[in-house]
Amino acid sequence: MVAIPASFRAYVAEKVERDGVPAVERGVRELAETDLPPGEVEIRVGWSSVNYKDGLATRVDGKVARISPLIPGIDLAGEVVASSDPSIRPGTAVLAHGYELGVARHGGYTEYQRVPAGWVVPLAPGLTGRDAMAIGTAGFTAAMSVIALEDRGLTPDDGPVLVTGASGGVGGTAVAILADRGYEVWAATGKAEEADRLRSIGAAGILARDDVTGTGRPLETERWAGAVDAVGAATLPYVLRTLKTGGAVAASGNASGPALETTVFPFILRGVSLLGMDSVPVEIGRRRRIWDRLATDLRPRALGEHVQEVTLETLDDALDRIVAGAARGRWIVRIGG
Ligand SMILES: NC(=O)c1ccc[n+]([C@@H]2O[C@H](COP(=O)([O-])OP(=O)(O)OC[C@H]3O[C@@H](n4cnc5c(N)ncnc54)[C@H](OP(=O)(O)O)[C@@H]3O)[C@@H](O)[C@H]2O)c1
Repeated sequence: MVAIPASFRAYVAEKVERDGVPAVERGVRELAETDLPPGEVEIRVGWSSVNYKDGLATRVDGKVARISPLIPGIDLAGEVVASSDPSIRPGTAVLAHGYELGVARHGGYTEYQRVPAGWVVPLAPGLTGRDAMAIGTAGFTAAMSVIALEDRGLTPDDGPVLVTGASGGVGGTAVAILADRGYEVWAATGKAEEADRLRSIGAAGILARDDVTGTGRPLETERWAGAVDAVGAATLPYVLRTLKTGGAVAASGNASGPALETTVFPFILRGVSLLGMDSVPVEIGRRRRIWDRLATDLRPRALGEHVQEVTLETLDDALDRIVAGAARGRWIVRIGG
């Protein structure tokens, strides 16, 4: 079973030394089929996307890449061209993300990839490969966050919900999903010029970054029934001290840093919960069910509209900009799509 051509193009990041200084060499290379790892399913990649972690995987100080050279790209969507697993047939539209993809094993920035069958998610009807990567790992994590909050009992009747880092991938998708489910969503952003776009995807109110960062009293006025936070150090302390009694925050990221300064008071005097989100190890059955929901009741509003397309040749800038906090929606990578 080999349907992958002998030679194809991929974007590669490789750790090197320049004049004794560590660096990462990045760019498109011609690879051979034998350069790809083993796996039951061969995919012709149509689309991938740019996630914060991809930016880190291509930086010297990123602490994400576990192999070198690495084809980064923590998610991909495409068409199965060969499969030794009878449950996944050639011609099927699929996506894969999570586990070791794009971190400890070659990822999505390539015309062809080979993955274990247990990593493959068949695309639900109504979701194209482009749609899937417009959602991507960031949007999947937003969906996980909404599910976690609702599993804990959150409903639109409980009051307003806050999303921090709202111009980014996790944040923007969370705003869109929550708004469509009837929540009064408030979007916190450091980019005032993003306010109109955030309103168009469902934000009922906008907060400036200054409103949700900085120090404060251990407990402040109860404001939020729930929150989605992928920003971490800068915003999570504010979120915790302003959640309503019994409220929860789904925390998935550290775009502003990993430290967390808080007191125990939100937890012991208001019964607040900090729900940790990790999209990487999600068991494949659950992962497929969440993607089915992303195609139906959790389908983000205006799916595929707030994206910028790049190619393997024009990826560099997006990888740098996402780490610099310059995201405005999502970047998707058109490969064979
Ligand atoms: N746990 C998981 O499974 C998982 C999955 C996906 C992502 N993540 C993590 O979640 C985070 C966000 O990922 P993403 O793909 O959504 O990234 P992104 O598109 O870059 O969005 C992050 C947003 O955070 C805000 N931000 C950035 N730097 C900030 C700072 N210094 N202070 C305050 N706000 C800042 C910006 O939004 P505004 O300008 O609008 O404020 C930025 O657009 C990353 O840490 C990523 O690694 C985790």
